[in-house]
Amino acid sequence: MSGTGLAIRGRFADITGSGVENTAERLREQDDGLLLIRDGLIEWFGPWQERCGTIPASYGLHDHRGKLIVPGFIDSHVHFPQTAIIGSHGEQLLEWLENYAFPAEKRFADRKYAGRMANFFIRELLRNGTTSAMVFSTVHAGSVEAVFEAALARNMRLISGKTLMDRNAPEQLCDTPQSGYDQSRELLKKYHNNKRLLYAITPRFAPTSSPEQLAEAGRLKREFPDVYVQTHLSENRAEIAWVRELFPERATYLDVYDHYGLTGPRSIFAHCLHLEDEEWQGLARTGSTIAFCPTSNLFLGSGLFSLDRARQEQVRVGMATDVGGGTSFSLLTTLGEGYKVLQLQQQNMAGAEALYLATLGGAEALGLDHLLGSFTPGKEADCIVLDPGATPLLELRSSQAESIGELLFALMTLGDDRAVSHTYVDGRLVHKRGEVMGCKG
Ligand code: GUN
Ligand code: ZN
Repeated sequence: MSGTGLAIRGRFADITGSGVENTAERLREQDDGLLLIRDGLIEWFGPWQERCGTIPASYGLHDHRGKLIVPGFIDSHVHFPQTAIIGSHGEQLLEWLENYAFPAEKRFADRKYAGRMANFFIRELLRNGTTSAMVFSTVHAGSVEAVFEAALARNMRLISGKTLMDRNAPEQLCDTPQSGYDQSRELLKKYHNNKRLLYAITPRFAPTSSPEQLAEAGRLKREFPDVYVQTHLSENRAEIAWVRELFPERATYLDVYDHYGLTGPRSIFAHCLHLEDEEWQGLARTGSTIAFCPTSNLFLGSGLFSLDRARQEQVRVGMATDVGGGTSFSLLTTLGEGYKVLQLQQQNMAGAEALYLATLGGAEALGLDHLLGSFTPGKEADCIVLDPGATPLLELRSSQAESIGELLFALMTLGDDRAVSHTYVDGRLVHKRGEVMGCKG
């Protein structure tokens, strides 16, 4: 937003500090708080009483008392071209890709269709309180333009890139090592650090890229070390066996990516369900991070992610919907399902840690915690307003909550898009529940 300011009043919660340890003690509450926003950045955050008399007259005041304001959610792995096939019945990963994902992705050769779907997708993120995301597009450069342009129109912080696939996929969805490199380079030059956009080199997963293509992806990463890498790792047992067949000379699945220079602090690996010890150590050693995708892992019957192991190995983790393998755009729902995945393994996640994973933890996993994830002044002003009374049952349950941790837990167990009453991006209101909000995108 330019030249104007905004004051938001209400009950606030965020996580301060860094890392996954002691999130309960780092939960910062402001029962009657004030957030001052100027030019899209957080200017001041603290008790309403302290600054209410000095809010500049030019600032608008949005009063959300009775609700809970938290930093905007970060979805660390989601496929925008799979929005229309969410909830497709009956298959595990490799068959699901063949029968549902690939046919859906073919349609994105049509730039107009890609544009419409990108706008639907971005609106869906905002309706669900997701203000930043790391997004898979398709092999078509136009699909990447479409999602970047839709994000640009709202000045969202969004990471995406052209999917690289040159084998084991339908012909219409295949590029070549050279065309994949050239198109990725062109897109990253146009979009990386264009306002709040960031580029990710995006080999889909090892089975759909030849060694030559992975080498080209690695070359691009060496040439542009501050861009991201996003891909999939160790999701499904048949997939892992296939990688072993395709790359017999590599010690592990992770070693395939590592060999081509695709691991590191800006590399985000989705799933990581069946890792070998040396893969965990490899992720930790290289500073690579994981996207935890519980609804997808359950829906595709892929397996159970061990958050405890990630904590032990000190590998950073972000929450992810993985739509359309995942079954919800809501990070509240995703956290609720994540909790159940952990329960099945005698692991745990309390309300404060859940808030951490969906906000500051996601920002840390993407190396964006200096910009996102809490109400620290100077950070970018993305925040959401959660309504503890969104449904009769949520209202009843919330009224019994004796702490903010308990309230957060009720929200993630019972809440979804209905619990997101307002979404702010870049200091501007971009979603208000029940209203269709205009946007030039
Ligand atoms: N592995 C390779 N491609 C995909 C995809 O589109 N979805 C999921 N869940 N896993 C993948
Ligand atoms: Zn995925």
